[in-house]
Amino acid sequence: MSSVTSDVEAINERKSGTRNERLSAWVEEVAQLCKPDRVYWCDGSREEYQAMLRLMVLTGTAIWLDESKRPNSVLVRSSPGDVARVEDRTFICARTKEEAGPTNNWEDPAKMKQKLQGLYAGAMAGRTLYVIPYSMGPIGSPIANIGVEITDSPYVVANMHTMARVGARVLEVLGSDGDFVRGLHSVGAPLATNQADSTWPNNAQEKYICHFPDTREIWSYGSGYGGNALLGKKCHALRIASVQARDEGWMAEHMLILKLTNPSGRSKYFTGAFPSACGKTNLAMLIPTIPGWKVETIGDDIAWMKFGLDGRLYAINPEYGFFGVAPGTSMKSNPNAMLAATKNSIFTNCAMTADGDVWWEQMTAEKPAELVDWLRRPWTPASARKAAHPNARFTAPASQCPVIAPEWEDPKGVPIDAILFGGRRSGVVPLVTESFSWQHGTFLGATASSETTAAATGQVGQLRRDPMAMLPFCGYNMGDYFAHYLKIGARPGAKLPKIFYVNWFRTDDQGKFLWPGYGENSRVLKWAFERCEGTAHAVDTPIGRLPRPADLDTSGLGIPEDRLRQLLDVDVDGWLAEIPLIREHFDKFGTHLPEGLNRELEDLDKRLRVSISRVGKVSRFGKVSPLGKRETLPPDK
Ligand code: OXD
Ligand code: MN
Repeated sequence: MSSVTSDVEAINERKSGTRNERLSAWVEEVAQLCKPDRVYWCDGSREEYQAMLRLMVLTGTAIWLDESKRPNSVLVRSSPGDVARVEDRTFICARTKEEAGPTNNWEDPAKMKQKLQGLYAGAMAGRTLYVIPYSMGPIGSPIANIGVEITDSPYVVANMHTMARVGARVLEVLGSDGDFVRGLHSVGAPLATNQADSTWPNNAQEKYICHFPDTREIWSYGSGYGGNALLGKKCHALRIASVQARDEGWMAEHMLILKLTNPSGRSKYFTGAFPSACGKTNLAMLIPTIPGWKVETIGDDIAWMKFGLDGRLYAINPEYGFFGVAPGTSMKSNPNAMLAATKNSIFTNCAMTADGDVWWEQMTAEKPAELVDWLRRPWTPASARKAAHPNARFTAPASQCPVIAPEWEDPKGVPIDAILFGGRRSGVVPLVTESFSWQHGTFLGATASSETTAAATGQVGQLRRDPMAMLPFCGYNMGDYFAHYLKIGARPGAKLPKIFYVNWFRTDDQGKFLWPGYGENSRVLKWAFERCEGTAHAVDTPIGRLPRPADLDTSGLGIPEDRLRQLLDVDVDGWLAEIPLIREHFDKFGTHLPEGLNRELEDLDKRLRVSISRVGKVSRFGKVSPLGKRETLPPDK
């Protein structure tokens, strides 16, 4: 008997081991509906993970990578129609459309459930129904939260093993009456008797990623990819958790968490919200170029923050691994991510080298002479197309990251000193701005905008407002989410983090990046660190507090003075042009927009106008010419 067959038989034998009757009843109910061939309760063991990899290899979903190059790692190729999060198929099924808000797709919960029940009926025929109990956050942490995902995809089971803490130990914490988030996932590809399976089962016609915030449920159908299918990540840890956080007075954010230590050995913890594929993983694992400074990683994508008794916000990383964007990642851009993914990793939609390793764009300075691309076609550097899909991913255990902070699993979390917001903006937004206050920082986050990337299906490079990088992930009305931020800031006794807005992506007239980014971003982190300590200098400008060129440590960088000035320029014209756009953005939220943000917009407008009449104050930072500015003002203002 082959070891795969025996693994599968062992899988069929395994029983629930749960004392939680609600859980057993729900699994039974789903099994009745979806009609799988068998039900398997995941125990979270290493053997189980290995069995899933072998199963995927056996069915053609995965291919082993060369053991001497990437030990215990596989490459998976999805179907071309299932390569990213599907935002247009993602729904927040709150009681009313207004509760979901203007930035979410909404459908009535009862109607959506009825529709999906029709799709789920018999959807798992010919497949195994896997039950994955998981903990988002260190098991037993007061900030952690338990979920159970039911899926018919071994790819999901294997990825969930890396991305969350799964299995029997979670059931123990859940006990007989613990509550959990229910996630039901099916690839939506039932198999008839003797029907051959495809290597990437999914439903090409229908995909639904649905959230029922009131009942803490997720129903996902038709896609097997990333955030659509690994329900602990975006669906639970952001969309459902943001609603839990609103109800319970904490924060669930699309943020990295990093630990920054200065040459004297003092450490601070920063979180950072950046839209998908804007370098969060790189920043979380950055190697500072300034001597004596150190960055260590707590998390690269999601932060849950709760107030401690001392009034500070404490953050945990609810995840257990990294689901990082592969293209662009290299030993030059992010050696720590590369090293984290040297073994025990799952690669999705990367290209394969002739010697059985993976490759993606910019991984090496020189392109390999020949590859098999992510669509399994021969590829050479002369090929016009990309070898890896732009949203190709690596799934790697966080514990394998060489700079993972020793306290990354501390159940009480780490106290946050600063929050960074950011986006991908080629103009207007300076390299770094410190907010005047928590409310002003909320305004900076709420108005953040960015050019779209390949992390979601749709057009790449379109400018869109992505408040707090939560546009695709906020589980309720975003106007109320802004109000929740202000409520957090108004909590009596709160000792709040400082808020900064950063933009690594500003370009010159030729479209070339002005700032080198990557490890050089440590210079900006250093300034923020020292602002928290009260030792760095800043100047009040109409848009916030900015370093003067001399306040940033640029030693050894060789950046020309005028380039630095451009990076720290307050582009008054550009900001005045943003005002109506921000107003339009805010108007979408109607009465849900908190008054505090309207006030911030008015104040910004006023400060910009005053700066024109007192041009001397600002011109040191920009190309402000008083008359020119006045002429651009609308006549009624
Ligand atoms: C991600 C995303 O996968 O933001 O982290 O899309
Ligand atoms: Mn993300």
